Amino acid sequence: MSTPTKPIALTRFLIEAQRAGHINPDLRLLIEVVARACKAISHAVSKGALGGVLGEAGTGNIQGEAQKKLDVLSNEILLEANEWGGHLAGCASEEMDDFSKIPNAYPKGNYLLLFDPLDGSSNIDVNVSVGTIFSVLKCPDGIDELKTEHFLQPGTQQVAAGYTVYGPSTMLVLTIGHGTHEFTLDRELGSFLLTKRDLRIPADTKEFAINMSNQRHWFPPMQRYASELLAGKTGPRGKDFNMRWVASMVADVHRILTRGGIFIYPRDQKDPDKPGRLRLMYEANPMSFIVEQAGGAATNGAQRILEIQPEKLHQRVAVFLGSKNEVEVATRYHLEAQG
Ligand code: F6P
Ligand code: MN
Repeated sequence: MSTPTKPIALTRFLIEAQRAGHINPDLRLLIEVVARACKAISHAVSKGALGGVLGEAGTGNIQGEAQKKLDVLSNEILLEANEWGGHLAGCASEEMDDFSKIPNAYPKGNYLLLFDPLDGSSNIDVNVSVGTIFSVLKCPDGIDELKTEHFLQPGTQQVAAGYTVYGPSTMLVLTIGHGTHEFTLDRELGSFLLTKRDLRIPADTKEFAINMSNQRHWFPPMQRYASELLAGKTGPRGKDFNMRWVASMVADVHRILTRGGIFIYPRDQKDPDKPGRLRLMYEANPMSFIVEQAGGAATNGAQRILEIQPEKLHQRVAVFLGSKNEVEVATRYHLEAQG
């Protein structure tokens, strides 16, 4: 009988990545700090009602959304963990109007961290999976004072991105630009252990994820695409599709990374000023990087998400991501409609 191989801890994985020249020691330690903060968030989330952390915080964020106690707590955990890390010049978060400089960092770090501290927060109070999404950019060299414009870099500039999903188990999915890898939190050891190296998203799928309740607000190409999915075997697509919608982006994307699928949050006519629901800098960009590194694709219906030049920190964007061939079909329908 062969002895089972010992799983590799995140720490060793990162040291090996450093030895291979994929990351430098600063980025390695920054990822370690973020992973440690995510363990603390996982701990708080798992306490549920016993931790007194459920329910509304009684405040709102810049996007006019009511903040939950866990949104605020997760944001604080990430900020505090990074405050003394020394690897960051600044942080931006879904839960903060403006970016925050790192007050205690000396010498000042070279990286910018952007995050959605608790994604899917409408699911917190009903005990359904939620998560944390993060993106790491390099701080431009030679700047005197950190400004919002320094964060506004296209997703292609990301040096690392990841998410954790707080589900039946807590998982961390990470890319440093050399594939996408999955780690599972061993709660007894308190470490993330590598459970899948090089995730690959199947190019074809029969599963889509969308909030169908918005259908009446969609634009014509989206109406056409969805009606063809729903028409199944007897329709133009010639196959039956299944639908899943957790309403936590982390959980829906995690399913797609595991078994394929397409995740869609289109622009719609409910609020024409909003070009989609999801935020570019700390939701769409990191997820697109992760998905592309796993062989999938991500567009806004017109172009690759990672190539969009951001204009605002909290900018919204339409999202089509997942199995490559399916994202291509949905994008083609949108491009054809533009003529
Ligand atoms: O962060 C935004 C978010 O909560 C995502 O996690 C999720 O995919 C989406 O919004 C859910 O949207 P809706 O409430 O329309 O289903
Ligand atoms: Mn979110």
